[in-house]
Amino acid sequence: MRDPEGADALKALDPGDGRLTILPYDASDLNAAQALKDKVTGPLDILFANAGVMGPKEQAFGEAANDGFLDTFRINTLAPLALAEAFADQVAQSQLKVIALQSSRMGSIADNDSGGRYAYRASKAALNAVGKSLSIDLKDKGVVVLILHPGWVRTDMGGPNGLMTPSESVSAQLDLIARANPAMSGRFFHISGEDLPGRRRPLPDSKKPRSLAAGFFVSSGAAGRGQACPAAPAGLIGQAGGTHSEACSVH
Ligand SMILES: NC(=O)c1ccc[n+]([C@@H]2O[C@H](COP(=O)([O-])OP(=O)(O)OC[C@H]3O[C@@H](n4cnc5c(N)ncnc54)[C@H](OP(=O)(O)O)[C@@H]3O)[C@@H](O)[C@H]2O)c1
Repeated sequence: MRDPEGADALKALDPGDGRLTILPYDASDLNAAQALKDKVTGPLDILFANAGVMGPKEQAFGEAANDGFLDTFRINTLAPLALAEAFADQVAQSQLKVIALQSSRMGSIADNDSGGRYAYRASKAALNAVGKSLSIDLKDKGVVVLILHPGWVRTDMGGPNGLMTPSESVSAQLDLIARANPAMSGRFFHISGEDLPGRRRPLPDSKKPRSLAAGFFVSSGAAGRGQACPAAPAGLIGQAGGTHSEACSVH
């Protein structure tokens, strides 16, 4: 929370029994996670890295390589990693031992049917890669790392046409977190509990290359390892043509 004083919506949730503490935190400051660690002591059941930005206005092809891209990475990708690095041991000392990363299905490379939004998509795809590495590096500590797509939510970012309220999204995500187990670690989940595709879906037979021409490289991920990256069920595939930036991908 960048401005605890102005956090009226959060304050309204305070049961008044001392369970809620709001601390200042600016994700664009790479030292912020360490500063937070100095104030938050003891075991942490759930570290939920939620803060994120859509990034600069200039994200269409032809204008996307700009400094705003780097700022987006700092907040959407580096800050969650810094939080995980700062708090992994405290999470490991807890009962639940969960690190949850708020990703977006716009970070799914396989699910990208509409292009554009370079900074946001790349920062969330990189966050997914961060989550996968964390799941491996923290396995021995017993920490489960969940990479979560919250649905298309009616927030400032999601806009008024989102399909669910923040409470509905949070309840569904808490439900997944309550079921967290080592087999779920490092995976990218829709709130329905379905896996989201992180890599290319397998090519249909008609599109598989017959031979490789010199100078071309086809990774085994594209054609040969389809079983390792299941496609989302039809109902979860993004519907192109929406008007909001997230609308093309998050339904
Ligand atoms: N809404 C959707 O449909 C949707 C879909 C997919 C993924 N997501 C992801 O869900 C997360 C929350 O998004 P939202 O829809 O709630 O967006 P939002 O309405 O724009 O809110 C963004 C949140 O991130 C915080 N934040 C932004 N920059 C920050 C910074 N530098 N330091 C600290 N906090 C910062 C904001 O805190 P302040 O109060 O301090 O501004 C606010 O709580 C994001 O990671 C987003 O990518 C949302």
